[in-house]
Amino acid sequence: MSALRLEAVSKIYQSGDDEIVAVDDATMVLGDDEMVALVGPSGSGKTTLISMAGGLLTPTRGRVTVGATDITDFSGKELTRFRAENIGFVFQTVNLVPFLTARENLLVVGELSGGGRAGRKRAGARADQLLEELGLGRRGSNLPAQLSGGERQRVAVGRALMNEPDLVLFDEPTSALDTQLGEQVMALIRSEVKGRGTAAVIVTHDQRVTRYCDRVLTITDGRLAEPVAAS
Ligand SMILES: Nc1ncnc2c1ncn2[C@@H]1O[C@H](COP(=O)(O)OP(=O)(O)OP(=O)(O)O)[C@@H](O)[C@H]1O
Ligand SMILES: [Mg+2]
Repeated sequence: MSALRLEAVSKIYQSGDDEIVAVDDATMVLGDDEMVALVGPSGSGKTTLISMAGGLLTPTRGRVTVGATDITDFSGKELTRFRAENIGFVFQTVNLVPFLTARENLLVVGELSGGGRAGRKRAGARADQLLEELGLGRRGSNLPAQLSGGERQRVAVGRALMNEPDLVLFDEPTSALDTQLGEQVMALIRSEVKGRGTAAVIVTHDQRVTRYCDRVLTITDGRLAEPVAAS
């Protein structure tokens, strides 16, 4: 089974009298533990494409299937629930909850998918482990405003992986990280993907990131190109 299937997906934004074709007839299939990089110039449709893949945006045309579930016709409420249980996101604008600590920002997604006392304990252990692996072991009780940009970005990566989702979508997860940290974060993402059978799409401009991926897809003016082998 595939983790993600986009079939002839298009997104057309209406901007006054203009129509902007942000994504044009995109088809892609992602295997269960596959890690794909999505590269392309600014404005080429990368964020729009992964937003549709993750059920944050409804396509104008085409179908989106995540695992065994076709989410194309889901209501807003159904999508919210489906996302909380199955999909992790790291957005380009990191958007942590400002009044929660780093650790609480991870726990809040654990709580979204329920679990009682045993569940809370498990979530706490998972959050601590992720923070440790992300080099944030001593930053757990800092608020986002008390973290550097790169630290906030790493908290967002931890939050996306928290619920052991089947599909994780990253929009430039390493843009604020130096070489060493960027590689550390990519190694963590890769071990999660390969160890748990999670699939990932990673939007990036960064050569260091594409090296960790199984495939690289390019998008230009909303059109996906044939995959080329990752270098
Ligand atoms: N809500 C919107 N309404 C109208 N046009 C939009 C909207 N969101 C994005 N666009 C347009 O759609 C196109 C694709 O945008 P998108 O954000 O997907 O690009 P991107 O590849 O993620 O770019 P970047 O690398 O700069 O983040 C752009 O031309 C953008 O201006
Ligand atoms: Mg973008």
